[in-house]
Amino acid sequence: MRQNLWIDGQWRESEGYTLLRSPFDGEVLAEVAQAGEAETRQAIEAAERAASAMARMPAHERSAILERVVRSMESRREELARLLTQEAAKPLKTARGEIARTIQTYRFAAMEATRIHGETIPMDAAPGGEGRVAYTVRKPIGVVGAITPFNFPFNLVAHKVGPALAAGNTVVLKPAGQTPLSALALGELFAEAGLPAGALNIIPGKGSVVGEALVADPRVKAITFTGSPEVGIALRNKAGLKRVTLELGSNSAMILDSDIELDEALIERCALGAFSFSGQVCISIQRIYVHRSRLEEFLDKFAEAARRLKVGDPSLEETDVSALIHPKEAKRIDGWVQAAVKRGARIVAGGRARAESVYEPTILTGVPEDEPLSCQEAFGPIVCVEAIDSIDEAIDRVNRSRYGLQAGLYTRDIHTAMRAADLLEVGGVMINDFPTFRVDHMPYGGVKESGVGREGIKYAIEELTELKLISIRL
Ligand code: SIN
Repeated sequence: MRQNLWIDGQWRESEGYTLLRSPFDGEVLAEVAQAGEAETRQAIEAAERAASAMARMPAHERSAILERVVRSMESRREELARLLTQEAAKPLKTARGEIARTIQTYRFAAMEATRIHGETIPMDAAPGGEGRVAYTVRKPIGVVGAITPFNFPFNLVAHKVGPALAAGNTVVLKPAGQTPLSALALGELFAEAGLPAGALNIIPGKGSVVGEALVADPRVKAITFTGSPEVGIALRNKAGLKRVTLELGSNSAMILDSDIELDEALIERCALGAFSFSGQVCISIQRIYVHRSRLEEFLDKFAEAARRLKVGDPSLEETDVSALIHPKEAKRIDGWVQAAVKRGARIVAGGRARAESVYEPTILTGVPEDEPLSCQEAFGPIVCVEAIDSIDEAIDRVNRSRYGLQAGLYTRDIHTAMRAADLLEVGGVMINDFPTFRVDHMPYGGVKESGVGREGIKYAIEELTELKLISIRL
């Protein structure tokens, strides 16, 4: 299958193509066009031409287009889930979950399109402001450059495309090189839903070419990026006065107080949070801090749950964990595990590759805090479980990270919960839940090297609109 670029409401060929392979078995899935500078320029031009039509389009029409996308995704759920399983090696049941979330995300976008509003400003609160009526409105920002990662090829695209279009903007989307097919499937879907040509352009290509061209072009008014801190920070440094939203990495942590029940529901939740999609999730549980008095009991139960997970072919109904996105990721993870073991860490479960790109769900304890396995983002099926003597010690250890996306805490003590909620340096605190919790309308984003700005449709719309004040002197 040859897959071209989607520019100005049409499929366009490009100068270069690359072979896309299944991360699980290496099978060739498609030959995918790669946008270069010229194609990126064409996509920006198309988006710029469509910008005024989108900005003038009434809210109810933008909402109706998004609602039609929701309905057509609903009718194609299984086909889209299977596409995701094929190109990302996301186990089928996890892929079905992502499609369900994507539908929700576009539904929230359809709803939010109709409630973008400002506020009235009491100008007479300042001497000299008397005799005026003033209000704010939110105007579309214009052309948005969206750069998305491989780990949620449908839903993290929806988190950028949905709010951008809901707000009356146009989009040039550069999907991840590993998972372009899911994004490209949206082109015709939006066109059939009535989106004007040029309002959404989808151009896979090298980040260093397309990303740089987007950031350098003055017609692109905002960049919204999900990916690594290194790339995100580099983009921001080049973005000048462009609006920039960055959703970057994390080594998310969960704290278990001494008073909690280590029942099956909690253990299952830990396994889901740590190993779902092989840990290739920004809020995957990478560190668990357990009160020392409960450590061995927790490790026994958690290791058993990890061993119960079915590892293998992502297209099988029963598979829980499959391949990492590339064999080199499995190698990297193994290197990190071996390095931690050399410095005294103990493997409690897993700890080896099953196939070139499949790594076992792995639990370690005694990992030094400065080992990559603990202090960097693993993005693999790995979790470090460490003993703590107090909740304050755990909070300190969570906060010593360079990241701060989300954290979780299980406790029965409301004072402990409130204290942790106050002190944890993260974008979201999940009390009595894992840090991996997300529903798609909540504000989502991090502090420190986890990023700037927030997603969650309403919040992303704030990032992708300009606030304008109108003051009428009576
Ligand atoms: C992410 O990996 O940043 C997204 C996590 C999610 O949406 O559940």
